[in-house]
Amino acid sequence: MIETLLPPGVTSSEAFDDVAPAPLFPAEAALMEGRRARRRRQFATARACARRCLSELGRYPVPLLPGPGGAPQWPAGVIGSITHCEGYRAAVAATSDTVGALGIDAEPAGPLPRGVLGLITSPAERDHLAALEAADPEVPWQRVFFSAKEAVYKAWYPAAGIWLGFRDATVTLRPEGTFTARLHPADPPPVSPFYEGRWLATPTLVITAVSRG
Ligand SMILES: CC(C)(COP(=O)(O)OP(=O)(O)OC[C@H]1O[C@@H](n2cnc3c(N)ncnc32)[C@H](O)[C@@H]1OP(=O)(O)O)[C@@H](O)C(=O)NCCC(=O)NCCS
Repeated sequence: MIETLLPPGVTSSEAFDDVAPAPLFPAEAALMEGRRARRRRQFATARACARRCLSELGRYPVPLLPGPGGAPQWPAGVIGSITHCEGYRAAVAATSDTVGALGIDAEPAGPLPRGVLGLITSPAERDHLAALEAADPEVPWQRVFFSAKEAVYKAWYPAAGIWLGFRDATVTLRPEGTFTARLHPADPPPVSPFYEGRWLATPTLVITAVSRG
């Protein structure tokens, strides 16, 4: 599914269960020591997805460990992103001469927990969502919106290295499955503030992907 959201040259791999986890490198296994079984399973399956992406790029498998802020540390010259949620795990990757930034996110379909929408939107974004909901009530627009902002954060952070709040980005969703994001953090680093993304919603899942050239 996720490949339909990606620009040319970006590899992807996804899984809907944990039957084929990656054998972990010692440093990855050490990281998972003492963690809950669910976290260990999602971590290992996501690593299997990431290793398939690296293999498609002609790269050897390497440990994918969290760097500053939790962002996975891909090998030099590779840009990628990882997501996992109930019933879904995925990784995407590309060489750094193909794309400048990548971010993906998956969420269970359905409304956001009560109170979350007000925390992640501006008044103008709430008007935008209300118009989308009125035009097509079948789409879980709030969840798509939340996922889009998380995907943007994952694309932004490895290059910028600074926290970005949900109100530091303005996201505009389009019904045909695309969106744009414009970032406006208080103290902007020299990183492009414009991202293009795509979204899809199934009866159970929302998936978003963003990139920057
Ligand atoms: C980091 C965050 C985006 C992860 O999203 P999530 O829905 O909780 O979890 P997901 O399963 O989709 O993603 C987890 C993966 O994201 C990646 N990730 C974590 N922190 C990251 C960061 N700072 N930058 C890039 N990727 C990151 C990791 O690969 C992680 O998986 P791993 O630990 O197995 O390697 C989220 O927890 C968060 O902190 N959000 C607040 C910041 C934000 O989204 N701001 C919006 C700005 S518009």
